[in-house]
This record gives sequence, structure tokens and C-alpha cells, in this order.
Amino acid sequence: VDLQAFNTLGLRARAAHFVELTNEADLAPLLARAKAEAWPVQLLGGGSNIVFAGDVSGLTIRLSLRGIRLISDSQAGAKIVAEDCVIIEAAAGESWHEFTQYTLAQGWAGLENLSLIPGSVGAAPVQNIGAYGVEVADVMHSLRAYDREQGRVVELSAADCGFAYRDSIFKSQQPGRYVILSVRFALSAKRPLVLGYGDIQTALATAGVQEPSAIDVAQAVIRIRQAKLPDPAVLGNAGSFFKNPLVPSAQIEQLQAHFPGLAAYPAQLSTPGWQKVAAGWLIEQAGWKGYRRGSVAVHERQALVLVHHGGGNGAELLALAADIVASVQARYGIHLEQEPVLMGG
Ligand code: EPU
Repeated sequence: VDLQAFNTLGLRARAAHFVELTNEADLAPLLARAKAEAWPVQLLGGGSNIVFAGDVSGLTIRLSLRGIRLISDSQAGAKIVAEDCVIIEAAAGESWHEFTQYTLAQGWAGLENLSLIPGSVGAAPVQNIGAYGVEVADVMHSLRAYDREQGRVVELSAADCGFAYRDSIFKSQQPGRYVILSVRFALSAKRPLVLGYGDIQTALATAGVQEPSAIDVAQAVIRIRQAKLPDPAVLGNAGSFFKNPLVPSAQIEQLQAHFPGLAAYPAQLSTPGWQKVAAGWLIEQAGWKGYRRGSVAVHERQALVLVHHGGGNGAELLALAADIVASVQARYGIHLEQEPVLMGG
């Protein structure tokens, strides 16, 4: 099966065996078959955070489970559920963006800052998607997953998922162990809005909004993303290709002496003495913004995003990424870590 339609970078790759899972009950027998055939198993959601380095051996399972339901506190375990809070569960194969807009239309706040992120609900916890000051970790209640080690469905709390900046146990410590089936979010009409980002303030002011609702914030986020980030339906990409690196404050001060514009922010989850640096700034200032080599390029409006114009392959994209990493290392002494997950090859 050609995987080109199943990754937002639009890279060509073939899966030796491919199944689209639409029914939870089919999963255990499918995994048993893969075990019997000694096929390695790869899990695929919306394919928006994947780089295919080449063909994929074994069995690729695309999680296409659908369904959204409101569940009562008693079913979800009423632990962290505050008053006026709903727990809503979405199956792994639901579109992330459509799900966020559905919850907002019901009057539940919480996912507005995460509007227009490509991909599926089941993939959201894997890389702990985040934007404009909110991460999945902040709004997730729990998730259901098939644990391949125990051979049964388990429920994991947000704390069990080991969330960190663009990271979780599903991406780092236990890759391949859990198949995420559905994710539950704790949302509320009274949830305070997160408005700290300058871009959001500007977008709201431009729209003439003074007391924003969650839907106003979602619309601001959508406008910002549409202005800066390429639409994967038009131009292949996987969002930010690198993480914003954590750098010791002392090194940042030294660098700022040479590079006065260098943008650094206090890092939410880190120890004091470290700050996050805007990788997009480092890459742009190193001269890469808009650079094109064959079919792959650095996006002209957001240097953190690599794009694929079509007809290329993962190796070309990874070669460009490696050159960017080397150039940023040489210029600033900062190592950039790749954000999307590699598959195949
Ligand atoms: N910048 C530049 N040049 C560029 C790009 C950015 O100078 O080409 C500077 C800007 O001046 C800005 C700063 O970098 O001050 C930050 O840029 P931006 O607000 O666009 O955010 P980012 O740090 O590049 C991160 C996330 C995005 C998320 C936005 C908003 C990561 C790896 N990326 O990007 O997430 O949408 O913040 O919260 O943390 C993703 O993970 O795929 C993703 C798109």
C-alpha cells in the first residue's frame, strides 16, 4: 500500500501490510496475527507528525476509530473533575480540529488554543500537541489504550502519560506498547482563557474583540495559523520540524551579546536557569528561511517548518534537516532536536 495519502508531508513510502482499523474489537486479533507472522507493527494516526524515511516493513495500522460521547463523572472516575466540568470522550480516529470546534460549539472551553492543529485525536497525546500556551496535558482527563504487554484495554490518567514538551511515554519511554483507542478531555464553560501570547492579543485587537469568548480565541488562533503555517492540503509539511531548544540562561546571555534579536522565553516545564529559544529565529537568522533544494524547502513564512513540494522523498528532507542542524550548531552552539517521528527506511 502506498502511504503517500496517509502523511501530510506527502512523502512516498510503501507499507508491506496495511490495515485501517475502524472497529476496536478487530485490534486484538489483528495484533495476534502480526505476532504470528513476526511482523513489526507501526501505528498511524493522521500522519501529520511522521517522516517516512523509506518503506515500512511489517504491519501498519491506521487508527480510524470514530465516535464522540459525553460521559458521566462516575464512569470516568470523578477524581479531578471540578464543578461545571464535562468529560467528553473522542475516538482515536476523529479529526483533532473538527473535535475542537465541536466542543466549542457545545459551549465547552479548553481546546480553543489548539484549533487547526492537523492530525487525529489519538495522536494528540503521543507528542502532547501544544500551541499558544496550552498543551494536551493541560486539558486531558484520561485515555483508553490497548496495552500490548498485558493484552488488554487499560485506562491511563494524564499523570500516567509522562507528558513533557512535545513528548509522552507513547513517543519516548514506551513506543509501540499502547494503542490509543480514545481520549477523554475535561472541559468547562467556565475554564479561564489562556491569552498570554502576543500573537493572540494582536489578533483579538485586530478583530475588535474586547471580552473574548472561547470561540473568539479559537478564531484568532485559526487566523494566526492560516497566516503563518502552510496548509498540508496545499503544501506538504509536518508542522514544526524541530523543537524549541532549552538552553542555559548564561549561554543565552552570551549569545545575545552577539545576536541582540535572539528570542528566548521562560520554559514552562523546566528547571530555573534554562530558557526556551525560538528555533525559528535561529534558523531564519542562519539564512535558511525560504531556502529550497529540489522538492524540499524551508517555509518562507515560518522557518521552523520544512515543506515538500512533491515528487521528493524522506531522504532529501532529512538531508536538508541535517544541514540546518549542523549550521545552527556551528553558528550558535545549540543543538536542534527533530520533532516529528521517523518511520520506515
Ligand atoms: N521566529 C522567527 N522566524 C521564523 C519563525 C519564528 O524569527 O521564521 C520567531 C518569531 O519572531 C517569534 C518566535 O520565533 O517571536 C516564535 O514563533 P511562533 O510564535 O511562530 O512559534 P514557534 O516557537 O515557532 C511554537 C510551536 C508551534 C506552535 C507555536 C505557537 C514548537 C516546536 N512549535 O512554534 O507548534 O503552534 O509555538 O504556540 O514548539 C508544532 O509543534 O508543529 C507547532 C506548529
